[in-house]
Amino acid sequence: MSNILRPIRLLLLGAPGSGKGTQTSRILKDFPQISAISSGDLLRQQIKLGTPIGKEAEAIIKKGDLIPDDSIVSLIKEELNAKNFLNASSSWLLDGFPRNATQAHVLDKTLSSHDSSLNLVVELDVPEEVILDRIENRWVHIPSGRVYNLTFNPPKVPGKDDITGEPLSKRPDDNPVTFKERIDTYKHQTLPLLEYYNKFGILRSVKGETSDIIYPQLKELLLKEFSKQ
Ligand code: AP5
Ligand code: MG
Repeated sequence: MSNILRPIRLLLLGAPGSGKGTQTSRILKDFPQISAISSGDLLRQQIKLGTPIGKEAEAIIKKGDLIPDDSIVSLIKEELNAKNFLNASSSWLLDGFPRNATQAHVLDKTLSSHDSSLNLVVELDVPEEVILDRIENRWVHIPSGRVYNLTFNPPKVPGKDDITGEPLSKRPDDNPVTFKERIDTYKHQTLPLLEYYNKFGILRSVKGETSDIIYPQLKELLLKEFSKQ
């Protein structure tokens, strides 16, 4: 029997504000062998840098629509390579990509041609009314993607990132009108992916409203996955 841990290739699925970014930070802290790509963080960095894709993305994100598949797919493929996700022994997670059937098919094809298919998909199932409340209190550190909440996990110094001391910002898509659009986009385009991954037998769901209910369930799933032979 081999004592080499099986690599983990995880996709986090969940509505806007369900806690994908928050759970990602916790996973990275507990499992240093895992790296992460968040499509939303990548896009916000591109906007800040003023790149062509950033310019294209800015107005679309403000409306709560999805960036065209071609643009997001090429950005993510570059990042998969840069972060060594296409090496079959790497452990990693994706947050925010794929978000529709086209993106899911492209991802599956790319990963399977490198013997690196997803082995776990976890849905964060959080009631909508809980999410709305959270978004109003969210602040982000754009360069790193670190997320804060004035009630749930406030920064140590108000308005500043804990690690760098740099200022925190509000996301321009965190207003009630755009948020409603984002939820609708999620329901129409991303929710059907649950059924898609369920067919592969790799879908799990974790459910909870309050702060520390979800993470222990997620951690348990990861530990189980790592220890499979
Ligand atoms: P993206 O950045 O991915 O946004 P999203 O999916 O709408 O999700 P959020 O980042 O808003 O929420 P989250 O689940 O990460 O929650 P968080 O941890 O912050 O995408 C933004 C836009 O980019 C899209 O609308 C689209 O335009 C574009 N885009 C991205 N990917 C794309 C793709 N693949 N294709 C096309 N377009 C794409 O938590 C939320 C708040 O709740 C925080 O304040 C947090 O502190 C708090 N909180 C979290 N967990 C808890 C808890 N357990 N208890 C209490 N509070 C909590
Ligand atoms: Mg996020």
